[in-house]
Amino acid sequence: MRRLDQLLSSLGYCSRREARAFLKQHNVTVRGRPVRDPTDKAAPADVLVGDEPLDHPDGLLLLLNKPLGLVCSHDEREGPRVYDLLPERWRARNPQVTSIGRLDKDTSGLLLLTDQTELVHKFTSPKHKVPKLYRAVVDRDLSPDLVPLFAAGTLVLDGETATCAPAELRIEDPRTAELVLTEGKYHQVRRMFAATGATVLALHRVRFGRLTLGDLKPGDFREVTASEI
Ligand code: URA
Repeated sequence: MRRLDQLLSSLGYCSRREARAFLKQHNVTVRGRPVRDPTDKAAPADVLVGDEPLDHPDGLLLLLNKPLGLVCSHDEREGPRVYDLLPERWRARNPQVTSIGRLDKDTSGLLLLTDQTELVHKFTSPKHKVPKLYRAVVDRDLSPDLVPLFAAGTLVLDGETATCAPAELRIEDPRTAELVLTEGKYHQVRRMFAATGATVLALHRVRFGRLTLGDLKPGDFREVTASEI
């Protein structure tokens, strides 16, 4: 059971202070009975707002095809944000919807978004080694020697002392490669190629764990169901 003002504000319907007015203006019922007191408690499944069940009371997990040019930061000063693609009510949720790991502004592809902190941990903790597949286009021909180099787990990125975990590289054509990482150091793909003298010109994330983009277009997102993760 949760207090209605807490429940409605955590799901982005209104602020806690606005809850009393919200209850007055919308037909909110608990087990069919109209409610007016924001301090009343209810089980989320028993609450209807104007005949509609509550919007994802157990949390959101979204799979977005991130377009180029958007940032994963919440700070508006860093540019247009991936969160700006979401419905207003989801943007007002608390805990807020955040990305699971980050993609750079100029990286596109599969990005997971959630308001469930335990999922952020589950997917990003180095312990879980969730594989992430990237496709990179680089500015020079890639030597086949990079395959064993990346696989060896001995590569040290500029400015770091720890080695990168073994990574699987498949060279598709001389300047395009797929790379599977099980960790997520800052700008890792770009920095791994930089360590070999190549500059990444385009970067796209194709897969995250078992999840792929399917036919989602850039800027589109869908919900991920529990059975998919
Ligand atoms: N590695 C990068 O360099 N950038 C990303 O956005 C993701 C992985």
